[in-house]
Amino acid sequence: MTKQTLRRLAATALCLGAMGSSLAQLSAGHSGANPGDTLQLHLNLAAARGDNLYLAAQLGGNFYFFDEAGGLSPYVPGAPTPRRRAGGSAGQQSVLEIAVPEGIDAAVTFHAAYGPGGGDILTTPGAVDMATLQSTVVDLTPIPGGPSYAANCQSCHDYDPTANFNNIQAGRDAAKIQAAIAADKGGMGQLAFLSAREIAAISYWIQNPRFDCH
Ligand code: HEC
Repeated sequence: MTKQTLRRLAATALCLGAMGSSLAQLSAGHSGANPGDTLQLHLNLAAARGDNLYLAAQLGGNFYFFDEAGGLSPYVPGAPTPRRRAGGSAGQQSVLEIAVPEGIDAAVTFHAAYGPGGGDILTTPGAVDMATLQSTVVDLTPIPGGPSYAANCQSCHDYDPTANFNNIQAGRDAAKIQAAIAADKGGMGQLAFLSAREIAAISYWIQNPRFDCH
């Protein structure tokens, strides 16, 4: 990835804020996600496209492209860029649905663009259709569930959720935690301040409790 290419992409993303949104819009289901959460990306196309959709995740200065099977490979300058799919019909459509892996500790910018196939989509002059290049940012910095469990749940559910004290194992399903708080089960109404994302993190930790480093 050359500095020029990065600058070109950054500049393109900037001008799209002003002009591109009516042609296509890339959006994420959530502004943030934890390991294990499902990350969904949607693209809203103003008109049907016959060329190729490219979908990239940008982590720092590096680009990774999603292929047709959902696999992710690093950008290789000069090599044909794998496409996400061919074409697309007008309207809102899902372009990605993956479980967030562990170990990503950063905000990731996703880019979608339409262009021709067979070349390096980032450096072929005019290859990327500038008017349809779109980006959205998803914060994949995990909220650590362990400390949050210790602070908010442990007093009534024991430090180790596998003991299933007061039926904590039901919390493997985040919706059941939400419901227990809403119904004030066992006095849990006091936890109404917890955000959906924090509850998801606690639920994930109940499924994968670790006591070494949370
Ligand atoms: C003040 C004590 C208290 C705190 C704090 C508390 N709980 Fe509970 N919770 C209970 C009790 C008591 C029950 C059992 C209620 C019952 O069986 O009716 C319960 C039940 C549950 C259940 C089972 C709900 C069901 O459908 O059966 C889940 C899941 C749960 N709690 C998750 C949590 C999580 C996660 C936290 C922390 C974010 C938490 N609780 C904090 C007291 C507490």
